[in-house]
Amino acid sequence: IRLAIFASGTGSNALNIIQYFKTSDVVEIGFVLSNKQDAKIVNAAREQGVEVVVVSNQEVEAAGKLVDLCRENAIDYIILAGFLRKIPEQLIGLYPDRIINIHPSLLPKYGGKGMYGANVHKAVLENKEKVSGITIHFVNTEFDKGEIIAQFQCVVDEGETLESLQHKIHLLEHANFPNVIKNTIVS
Ligand code: GRF
Repeated sequence: IRLAIFASGTGSNALNIIQYFKTSDVVEIGFVLSNKQDAKIVNAAREQGVEVVVVSNQEVEAAGKLVDLCRENAIDYIILAGFLRKIPEQLIGLYPDRIINIHPSLLPKYGGKGMYGANVHKAVLENKEKVSGITIHFVNTEFDKGEIIAQFQCVVDEGETLESLQHKIHLLEHANFPNVIKNTIVS
């Protein structure tokens, strides 16, 4: 089973997934795709011996190059690990229930337009939520509304800061995302 991982930033989740499947006989990483040349994940994945492809935002929107890359690399599933661009409908059409995203809140809360990264945690803190968490879900054409695969919660403590919440959420993501991917794709 071959995965492509799309990431735009630090890529701690992407790296964690690469390491998790490194010794797997069943799951391989075909390539990492990033829309940012200077994203940390670009070098980090290369250092792990994984092929990295950098594309422009226009190329993401136009879809053709992404479709070709996935076809040429015989990709079965696409994993979105902090990929901050909208996935083109053409690709969603080719991979129904085969694109998996991670979102740093308990969807449907704090999802949708503008709700990504620190914005999510800011909103959670402003609303004095007592609980937050992560959602792993399939991607369909409605942003953040694809079928939920799994959710994991964490407590929002009194005096929680943006940084401390972000850290908690990252730990939750690292502890759970690879395993949920495996359980979803390996039957
Ligand atoms: C994660 O919190 C993920 O939920 C969100 O973007 C962040 C990516 O973090 N969509 P990293 O680049 O994997 O460290």
